[in-house]
This record gives sequence, C-alpha cells and structure tokens, in this order.
Amino acid sequence: MELDGVSALITGGASGLGAGTVRKLCGLGVRCTIFDRNEAGAKQLADEVGTGADYVAGDVTNPDDCQRAVDQAAGNASLRIAVNCAGTGWVGRVINRDNSPHDLGAFKFIMELNIVGTFNVMTRAASVMAGTEPGPDGERGVIVNTASVAAFDGQIGQLAYSASKGAVVGMTLPAARDLASVGIRVMTIAPGLFDTPLLGMLPQEQRDALGQSVLFPKRLGQPEQYGELVADIARNSYLNGEVIRLDGGIRMPPK
Ligand SMILES: NC(=O)c1ccc[n+]([C@@H]2O[C@H](COP(=O)([O-])OP(=O)(O)OC[C@H]3O[C@@H](n4cnc5c(N)ncnc54)[C@H](O)[C@@H]3O)[C@@H](O)[C@H]2O)c1
Repeated sequence: MELDGVSALITGGASGLGAGTVRKLCGLGVRCTIFDRNEAGAKQLADEVGTGADYVAGDVTNPDDCQRAVDQAAGNASLRIAVNCAGTGWVGRVINRDNSPHDLGAFKFIMELNIVGTFNVMTRAASVMAGTEPGPDGERGVIVNTASVAAFDGQIGQLAYSASKGAVVGMTLPAARDLASVGIRVMTIAPGLFDTPLLGMLPQEQRDALGQSVLFPKRLGQPEQYGELVADIARNSYLNGEVIRLDGGIRMPPK
C-alpha cells in the first residue's frame, strides 16, 4: 500500500506504542488521527506532529466514541489504516495470597478494554474502509491489532492480561478471512518488553533487569520500532492473517 496521503486511526495514540506509531506514520506522509481517552496527551502529540495529525478524545469501550473517531479519520483522507494500541495490563492470580478468588470486576475490565475496545474499532473501521475505492490489487485497507507475548508466555499473575491478548490473537485469522472479500488485511503484533509509560511504572533497576532478559539486543524495545513494523505491515500487502512477535527473541519465564 502506498502510504503517502492516506488516513490512519491510531487508538492509544497519545502514549507509548501508539505514539511511536503516530510519529512514524506521520513521517511517511500519513494523515494520523489519534484516538485516546487522554485528551491532553493526544492534543500535545497532535500539536507536536503538526498538520499531519489531529485527535479525538474518547473511550474505545464506547462504540459511539469509536464511530466518531473513525468518521473523523475518514473525513481527512481515505481511511486505509487502523491501529489498535489502547489497552493495559493487570496483575492478579487465580487466587490471592489469602486464597480468595481473583477479582471478577478486574477481569471484566481487562476483557472490556483489551478485547471489546479492539473489536469496536476494528469493526467500525472495516465498515468504513469497505465503502472506499480500492487501490491497486483491490486493497482497501489494513487493520493492525496489538496483542502481547503474554498471549503465549503468560506469567504468574497474568491471568486476565494473557486471556485478553490471547483473544486478540484469536481474532486475527477469522477477521482476515471475513474481510478478504473487501480487500482489507488484518495483522496482529505481539510486542515483548517496550520502553513505554506502561513499564515506566517499574523502578529503573527492574526495567534494566527486564532489558537484560531479552535475547538480543539486551534492552527494552523502542516505541518507534513498533511504529516501524506497523508501517512495514501497511506497505507489504502480502502480510495478512498473521501474528508477528516483536520481542528481541525473548521467551517469558513463569515469573
Ligand atoms: N509496553 C509494553 O512492553 C507492551 C508489551 C506488550 C503489549 N503491550 C500492549 O500495547 C498496548 C499499548 O501499550 P503501551 O505500553 O503503549 O501503553 P501506554 O499506557 O503507554 O499507552 C496506552 C494508551 O492507551 C490509552 N487508553 C487506555 N485505555 C483507553 C480507553 N479505554 N480508550 C481510549 N484510550 C485508552 C491511554 O490513555 C494511553 O495513551 C497495550 O495494549 C499493551 O497491553 C505493551
């Protein structure tokens, strides 16, 4: 796909992997719409990037907010790219230290954000993309979802998080099959350990130790490297229905 001049919607685009994607795509001439519940962060990045970006403040778990974001992105230029980066983690075991069960509310919160949020944006973006004029090869667009290596190497305390990311992995092939007839590809990236505010909550010592646990290179991934893979996926129209681990070869141990 030719990237220059097309429109992209990036959820969670105000921070971390989403922000890395916005910076990368804008640098390649893509018109980016940042969709994030952090309005101040979204505005700040849109201002920094300049005319190549605008933003929508909203919640990916709210279908109306998602429709608004998709419509705004589609109003800028032909919507060809939707990237789902809004999401978060949770730590909780099947049973707590006092043997009480994992909190149901927390489990449902993670499912709602990481799965339903991805579903909301993917379905609405695809619905609009399907009505656009196809490019060469009959291609109308690409959807990139964000899982995690936790979908495969779930650690102690990652019950909810791993379940949610496993669902994102599981949606990849059926979504790609559903959308093949309208020329829309679906890909998922499963990041390893990236240097974003999500990991920034950890003390530096622990972040350094995490970096050392990567096979090579022995450091955390940079959000720009995530953005680079999104751009590569968008450009290479033969990538479809697959999950790519972007993780420096790390395999997470039980804890
Ligand atoms: N950082 C990592 O090492 C890592 C590894 C694997 C997977 N991931 C996944 O990548 C995604 C992005 O992570 P990150 O590290 O960039 O996190 P981050 O916290 O830096 O950014 C997440 C962004 O999503 C936004 N957001 C959260 N809930 C939202 C909602 N309901 N509606 C709209 N926006 C919302 C936040 O405001 C924030 O700007 C997440 O799904 C995360 O699980 C991250």
